[in-house]
Amino acid sequence: MKIFIDSADIDEIKAAFSWGFVDGVTTNPSLIKMAAEKHGAKNLENYVSSVLAAVGRGHDVSLEVLGGSFQAMIQQGKVLYNKFSGVGARVVVKIPVNPLLKQNECADVEYDGIRAIHALAKEGIPVNTTLVMAPEQALLAAKAGAKYVSPFAGRIDDFVRECCFCNYKKTDYFPQEGIKISPDEILDDNGIVSGVDLVAKIVQIFRNYDLKTEVLAASVRNARQVRELALAGAHISTIPFGVLTQMVRHEKTYEGMQKFTADIVPEYRVLFD
Ligand code: G3P
Repeated sequence: MKIFIDSADIDEIKAAFSWGFVDGVTTNPSLIKMAAEKHGAKNLENYVSSVLAAVGRGHDVSLEVLGGSFQAMIQQGKVLYNKFSGVGARVVVKIPVNPLLKQNECADVEYDGIRAIHALAKEGIPVNTTLVMAPEQALLAAKAGAKYVSPFAGRIDDFVRECCFCNYKKTDYFPQEGIKISPDEILDDNGIVSGVDLVAKIVQIFRNYDLKTEVLAASVRNARQVRELALAGAHISTIPFGVLTQMVRHEKTYEGMQKFTADIVPEYRVLFD
């Protein structure tokens, strides 16, 4: 499984790439807002260019359009691609699977995201389909030509959990097999019992039809979820910095280090002098 960092913070991105296991970056407007505030970045063209330069060639960085109509998303996708291609990392344009910002009640507006994916893909612009919440959306985006589909695992867990009015923290573990509310009833969202289940079902559909689009699991909240995403066959997980650092921690590893360090005899120590 490839690992991307889900961040627009250049410090986090540089640190993550220095570990040698990170393959790419995903951003969204919320992450850009947080990073710009932290770094006091007023000129976002310069800031985004510095991120792409730091990441370097051979890695993907997803940049999201503002949304809206088919024409707006095509135009914004081209702006992002043309402005930032050549700066360093490969630009992938992030398009919501269908338009969030409904401007009128025309029925065909519903499919603008898919049309925009298709139009950009036909021009050779790689697209990451974002805000995927159902396997059907992923199937349509893949058929339209998306390079990646991004199912939002954590937000589906939130959605399912909210159905039972559970109290939870954003990073709480949500069981892959769902939450049983009676001996024969599991909470679900139209047949999806958890974020990992959503990803697993998309992976299975893509395998059934040998679709080349990669499943990029997003909205990842904790290390155990990453493990389950890898077992489910996600091609990529995009992971926040805090979860990346959580993945290498285990209290027995620390305990083992303390014991080994305590057992070092002087004769062994001199080997390093
Ligand atoms: O990759 C999408 C991600 O940034 C959203 O994550 O935790 O806000 O649902 P989250």
